[in-house]
Amino acid sequence: MKVSEVVPVKFVGGKMLILDQSKLPGEEKYLEMETKEDIYVAIKKLKVRGAPAIGVAAAYGLYVSTRHSHAKTLKEFRPEVKEVADYIVKARPTAVNLSWALSRMMDRLDTFNGDVSDAKQMLLSEADKIRVEDENSCHKMGEYGLTLLKPGMGILTHCNAGTLATAKYGTSLAPIYLGTEKNYDFKVFADETRPLLQGARLTAWELTKAGVDVTLICDNMASIVMKNGWIDAVVVGCDRMAANGDGANKIGTSAVAILAKEYGIPFYMFVPTSTIDYDTKTGDDIQIELRDGKEISEMWYKQPMAPQGVKTYNPSFDVTPARYITAVITENGIVRAPYEENLLKLKERTVK
Ligand code: MRU
Repeated sequence: MKVSEVVPVKFVGGKMLILDQSKLPGEEKYLEMETKEDIYVAIKKLKVRGAPAIGVAAAYGLYVSTRHSHAKTLKEFRPEVKEVADYIVKARPTAVNLSWALSRMMDRLDTFNGDVSDAKQMLLSEADKIRVEDENSCHKMGEYGLTLLKPGMGILTHCNAGTLATAKYGTSLAPIYLGTEKNYDFKVFADETRPLLQGARLTAWELTKAGVDVTLICDNMASIVMKNGWIDAVVVGCDRMAANGDGANKIGTSAVAILAKEYGIPFYMFVPTSTIDYDTKTGDDIQIELRDGKEISEMWYKQPMAPQGVKTYNPSFDVTPARYITAVITENGIVRAPYEENLLKLKERTVK
């Protein structure tokens, strides 16, 4: 499978399939999603993960898990679909794309006129639109992002904001793919990203497949590679950006941002507009997902990684304060501080 063929969520021959990312890089296996429980578990257990990909999965998931409804009228169908949306949205709290995609689907249904079978078709085509828009938006972010990078640069990334996390190309990895097509010869450093190893298992995997020069490091090595002078820019994704420019992303992102500032290295956050939550004022208002401590203490080795019963604390995300972010790259352009003002201008400029 070449990187361009690695599609995290697909709808083919009437089937919704997701690539089980919890098995990568060992096994490339697609799972069919049929029920709301399938979707909920796939998102909760990170079989599909990454903010935009979660949104795409939720949208198709809403369609497949309601398409066999026996409702005869829209009046009966709408509450059934709403109940499913209310269930799926609870799978993970931090990435805003989950609620964004489901609300968008519900809004379309609420204003739809026609019979139930047309409404089901409309839900499928709206999910298709969300997927296609995400793919286009990632491509544009790649183009904008590439204007900030130069051939031969050393680039550090954290977690996975690549093709596996989106419909295609990724957000922060998109400029790396576009640059590689132009022989930019980037040297990418991928933080392994404890505890679930998205950097090691997913970023290193997809970049290697694409022929990108990638070096895997442990999270606690970011400082030394910066000190060595090997890093010219940091690129990361985002799960939810507040109206003031504070951005939640995978746990450890804020530490990388603080280090980058110390070493005078630009820190770029790639944020599709579907990930900007204008209703959330600051990063303090973003709900951070807490996950099972076993992910830290016993997940990856055959033997326990810590004494039995040890106390754990396992937040899945942290918030990088806006003041550490050199620029926010969206599909509609690059935004710089003051973020509160400039994110609002972006919204006013691009609202349809
Ligand atoms: O827990 P995950 O793997 O879903 O976390 C993913 C991230 O933090 C990504 O960086 C973020 O969703 C942006 S993906 C384009």
